[in-house]
Amino acid sequence: MRMVKVPLGNRSYNILIGRGLLARLGAECSKLQLGRRCAIISDRNVAPRFAKAAQRSLVQAGFDSFLITVPAGETAKSIKSVQACYDQLANCRLERKSFIVALGGGVVGDLAGFVAATYLRGIAFVQVPTTLLAQVDSSVGGKVGVNLKAGKNLVGAFYQPRVVLCDFATLKTLPDREYRAGLAEVIKYGIIYDASLFRLLEREMPKLLKRDEKILAAVVARCCEIKADVVGQDETESGLRAILNFGHTIGHALEAISGYGKYLHGEAISIGQVAAASLSSRLSGLPADDVERIAKLFHRAGLPIQVKLNPVQLNQLCAAMKLDKKVSAGEIKFVLAQKIGKVEFGQKVPESLVRETLNRKP
Ligand SMILES: NC(=O)c1ccc[n+]([C@@H]2O[C@H](COP(=O)([O-])OP(=O)(O)OC[C@H]3O[C@@H](n4cnc5c(N)ncnc54)[C@H](O)[C@@H]3O)[C@@H](O)[C@H]2O)c1
Ligand SMILES: [Zn+2]
Repeated sequence: MRMVKVPLGNRSYNILIGRGLLARLGAECSKLQLGRRCAIISDRNVAPRFAKAAQRSLVQAGFDSFLITVPAGETAKSIKSVQACYDQLANCRLERKSFIVALGGGVVGDLAGFVAATYLRGIAFVQVPTTLLAQVDSSVGGKVGVNLKAGKNLVGAFYQPRVVLCDFATLKTLPDREYRAGLAEVIKYGIIYDASLFRLLEREMPKLLKRDEKILAAVVARCCEIKADVVGQDETESGLRAILNFGHTIGHALEAISGYGKYLHGEAISIGQVAAASLSSRLSGLPADDVERIAKLFHRAGLPIQVKLNPVQLNQLCAAMKLDKKVSAGEIKFVLAQKIGKVEFGQKVPESLVRETLNRKP
């Protein structure tokens, strides 16, 4: 088992990475000095597979656990689900010392974390991420929240979990498309922070696609280390944390204009990162060779690297980029790369250049 610490003073916590961690959930929760009662929040795909094992482990450690199941998919990240969770927590008489276990992908983690942050003005929560994306990204760092009709993640909080358990065994049942989408965030860490991780991914992509546990362990741990390092320096995104948004300005806009259905998040940011790499070669000195390596690696991971937009869609995409909550004073800011492993945030990019980049033929 590997362990990564997220250094946040008295809110520091560990990320445990390994196989069989679900069976250790109860033992790990025992170390946190919490109350006896807890609720597992999960979704309809994950609960039938893993909730029993989670409950067994909690019961063995002396906890009383209740299971709350929400629908699967992005629509569960809503105020309506939050309300349903609050009602069930109250019915199960969860109190200040009680805690919540988020068992699922990023949707469940963001929802359950937000419920934990606000129920009784905040009770403890534990993350048990079951998608690759959630293991390397969403379960770490404390951003929790839900969507509004007006946009994604518009209601939320910074609220850190008490421990994160990444059990590879849970990834076995993840559909291939979801797994590949997680790889888009993995590759991102190489581009923004670690050229040797990027090279490892170039070497080991075939094994990684086969979910080889040895490689997966090393890769998940390294991604968590990078995220922990960034979040440890800038928890609330006043600066550095913005680098985690590499490829996300275009990616988020693409998700928004295609109605959050056509592309998975990882697919949209794969296209977004390849476009950001092109922009970087024009604006921040990223060598053309590196642009090519980046596009190639996403392609080898089975991810889309280009999008064909008609003029109407291109206008919609630019409008959506300006609506993104990362825009300040109407200016579109990008994270751009200088080389693989090094990026800078807050870079102004003229809209005309974004249009030109997205219009380019392969
Ligand atoms: N908080 C953050 O910092 C942060 C960062 C990145 C993304 N996010 C959020 O994360 C969400 C996306 O997360 P996601 O990609 O994990 O999606 P998800 O939670 O919707 O999971 C994807 C699908 O896989 C299913 N699933 C999950 N685990 C499974 C397993 N082990 N076996 C079989 N099926 C399984 C789910 O039921 C769902 O249908 C988005 O809402 C995004 O905004 C948050
Ligand atoms: Zn992302």
